[in-house]
Amino acid sequence: MMPMTPSEAKNIVVLGVQWGDEGKGKIIDVLSEEVDVLVRYQGGNNAGHTVIAKGEEFVFHLIPSGLLRPGRVGLLGNGVVIDPAVLIEEMQLLEARGINTVDAVKISDQAHVIFPYHKRLDLAREASGDRRIGTTGRGIGPCYMDKVARMGIRIGDLIQPEALAEGLKQNLKEKNRVLETSYGEKPINFDELFAEYSEYAKVLAPHVVNGSLLLREAMDANKKILFEGAQGTMLDIDFGTYPYVTSSNATAGGACIGSGVPPTAIDCVIGVLKAYTTRVGEGPFPTEFSEGMMEEIRTRGNEFGATTGRPRRCGWFDAVIAKHSVWLNGCNSVAVTKLDVLDGLESVDICVGYRLGNETITHFPSDLKTLNACQPIYETMPGWQGATSDASCLEELPPEAQTYLKRLEQLIGIPVSLISTGSAREQSFKTACW
Ligand code: GDP
Ligand code: IMO
Ligand code: MG
Repeated sequence: MMPMTPSEAKNIVVLGVQWGDEGKGKIIDVLSEEVDVLVRYQGGNNAGHTVIAKGEEFVFHLIPSGLLRPGRVGLLGNGVVIDPAVLIEEMQLLEARGINTVDAVKISDQAHVIFPYHKRLDLAREASGDRRIGTTGRGIGPCYMDKVARMGIRIGDLIQPEALAEGLKQNLKEKNRVLETSYGEKPINFDELFAEYSEYAKVLAPHVVNGSLLLREAMDANKKILFEGAQGTMLDIDFGTYPYVTSSNATAGGACIGSGVPPTAIDCVIGVLKAYTTRVGEGPFPTEFSEGMMEEIRTRGNEFGATTGRPRRCGWFDAVIAKHSVWLNGCNSVAVTKLDVLDGLESVDICVGYRLGNETITHFPSDLKTLNACQPIYETMPGWQGATSDASCLEELPPEAQTYLKRLEQLIGIPVSLISTGSAREQSFKTACW
């Protein structure tokens, strides 16, 4: 059977295939024109997804990036970890800019809640210097730890005062012990915390739903659904560069687990990839630039974190990683972003394999020790001198840029279905295989 194209598909996953910040927000905003329901399925406000529409910039942390379009429903699935203060602020900011969140935002009662002790433990552990990951400090890892340890407090508990009180009392005993004895920090007061979160509960309660049921009913009603990945495949807790990863499954499999739909419901997966590579935080990065080129691409691409403002590490396109991610996620096609950032370079390198001792490998190693021993093997392609940002179809791109994209397609084995050449909504076009 031929794979579905994005326009034929009903239920699409859109996710990053590198280390995040591929431009998922922009691509999802473009695609949301054709979609009824948008679902975030993992991560939390460690994500920062930028959308530029009608000259205005919006940065989404928890709310799905497609909600600028009126009439859409945006679900935060059970796989998401939610800091209520951040979610409420995000909704209020959008409302103030004329975007309806009152009817649009739905929250799964099975999603887990981030509390101040999660953030404090995240920051304290990072500050201790032991195995520093370079996290966003938003309490993501500690919240997922509680989920897996079966001591998490879910949104469904948050909105029931007795369940919230009981959960917090139990958890604070342990959390305060760790904060005080391991990190020498002040304990958290139950009454103050309970009072603060009870107020959040009142605001969020009208948005709380059975997420899986909402999606089942949407599918029965023949609605088109887009599942939005946060982070990127290389930050996946299982398949990324562990331990330098985030604490959830950013890969396509996570879309089912994190929202409550069966794998057979997904009929198309689109990978978003930058024409080069970036990552934020610690961890291996085989194609990372050295100083001069790092500065140049960081400045051209404005590569600073949308959540923490940290400078992003930049490097050449790594086809080993891209091919690995494409397979792992079952991508049908990819959207290539930020092609314009490479405009005017004399030449452009692509990593086509890794040198490992006397061997050449083209698969991504599953352990860090092997990955750290790998040296990238580059293929150098001619750069292009014209601007790509005004192109409205493939043929309008400079010939060398077309050749670059064709080579990427060859290396990753699937077609490019969408090309983005600027941050604005209009600066993108679909190719014939859309
Ligand atoms: P996300 O986390 O994957 O949604 O990506 P971010 O929003 O964190 O980072 C992508 C950045 O690149 C944002 O500032 C976007 O506005 C910008 N961007 C997206 N697509 C393009 C593009 O094609 N060209 C340029 N120059 N910028 C882009
Ligand atoms: P979007 O969705 C880039 C990185 C952090 C750190 C690691 C673990 O915008 O692509 P965490 O706070 O999740 O425990 O940090 O993961 N990280 C991201 N890097 N983009 C993101 O999100 C990220 N979310 C987390 O920098 O290295
Ligand atoms: Mg981002």
